[in-house]
Amino acid sequence: MDKPYQAMPGIKVLPAHFPVPGAGFLPVNAFVIKAKEPVLVDTGMGIDSDEFMKALNSVIDPRDLKWVWLTHDDADHTGNIQKVLEVAPNARLAAYSLAVLRMSTAWSVSMDRVYWLNPGDSISAGDRKLTAVRPPVFDNPTTIGVYDDKSEAFFSADCFGAIIPSPAQSTDDVAEDDLTQGMAGWASLDNPWVHMVKQSEFGQALDRICKLAPKIILSGHLPPATGKTEQFLELLATVPPSTPSIAPNQTALEQILAR
Ligand SMILES: [Fe+2]
Ligand SMILES: [Fe+2]
Repeated sequence: MDKPYQAMPGIKVLPAHFPVPGAGFLPVNAFVIKAKEPVLVDTGMGIDSDEFMKALNSVIDPRDLKWVWLTHDDADHTGNIQKVLEVAPNARLAAYSLAVLRMSTAWSVSMDRVYWLNPGDSISAGDRKLTAVRPPVFDNPTTIGVYDDKSEAFFSADCFGAIIPSPAQSTDDVAEDDLTQGMAGWASLDNPWVHMVKQSEFGQALDRICKLAPKIILSGHLPPATGKTEQFLELLATVPPSTPSIAPNQTALEQILAR
């Protein structure tokens, strides 16, 4: 875990950086929205458990949390969900139904604390409306990003992620080439299906985000990106016809281990 920082007024990042051997770092972010009804978006990685809970406590008293919004049930987003729900007794768990049911195979989720959302559904966090928006690419069928109509931030789950050379607190601090290559490579590797989609239909998914026009993109796997939505959507549009990224194999692992 790294030190929490402010992405914009009222939104804190609980950041971590997962080392990817031979490639760089994958940012792994959770977020606290200091809404009238405060919201935690995602719950970090289990490997960081103690540090994550400390970081969370440093930005908010967990008893004040009214919502925990899970973008999907992958382990790098649900790492501390049980601990968080324990220390945040006033919070409801907002998630896609299938995410809740899938997690229920591993631990007992209290259904009376759950709020099921499909893409397009909204909750009120007191001073703002949070709407479930499916990002154009997703590596898990339970994915719902969050659009916050007050801050005009889009919490995009794994979409717009990138493996980057070194940790950063803003995409402005990542070299343009590293950002472009990292994001295109991640989009391909994390969403291999993107190479099977019709360009026209994928274009509609990109258009939906273009129309939403978020001012800031808060990806689970990228430093905060202000004013870059159009640029990122143009970049994603190039991914379906590109050569698919190939994950490292055993030969690559042996080379990494020999270093
Ligand atoms: Fe994921
Ligand atoms: Fe992820």
